[in-house]
Amino acid sequence: MPEARLAILISGRGSNMVALANAARAPDFPADIALVLSNKADAQGLETAAAMGLETLALPHRGFANREAFDTALSAELKARHIDVIALAGFMRILTPGFIRQWEGRIVNIHPSLLPKYQGLDTHARAIAAGDREAGCTVHVVTERLDDGPVLAQARVPIAPDDTEATLAARVLAQEHRIYPAALAAHIRSLGPKQACPDQR
Ligand code: GRF
Repeated sequence: MPEARLAILISGRGSNMVALANAARAPDFPADIALVLSNKADAQGLETAAAMGLETLALPHRGFANREAFDTALSAELKARHIDVIALAGFMRILTPGFIRQWEGRIVNIHPSLLPKYQGLDTHARAIAAGDREAGCTVHVVTERLDDGPVLAQARVPIAPDDTEATLAARVLAQEHRIYPAALAAHIRSLGPKQACPDQR
């Protein structure tokens, strides 16, 4: 059975990308990482991916007139590499409804909160400010609504009274690295034996 071809989309540090890439080395992981793509040319994660021997591509969004134009180019790059599944890993760009429809069910994201709480940015600061006693992270299928869509996995961590945004983020990040590879693998398996994007069949 052919493995799914996975693209990981990043914008920065890339620690979740590394967690996925390490997990993908296991023989029973259901996907090969065919591409690590960043919308920022200077993303640290691109260098890390190249050092790990992965194919990388910078597609700076600034070169495009609007979101639709960027997403059209993004889709073309993914299709040129016969990508089946997309993992967003710190990809700080909202995708257009047209792009999401084209890849329906095949885009997975990790978000640093216990969705549906704290969609959007600054999740840890908001959880601390609200006096929450726990925080966490969520792996979900991407739909047209931001930080929404079927939940594949969640992990919870306690919030300590002296937590700062940074200490809480570090505690949550360790859980992100743990749950993302497993949840993504399970989702890819659930797509069935032929994972190709409908447009590419
Ligand atoms: C992670 O906290 C992820 O949940 C969020 O952005 C951060 C990316 O970190 N979407 P990294 O680039 O994977 O290290």
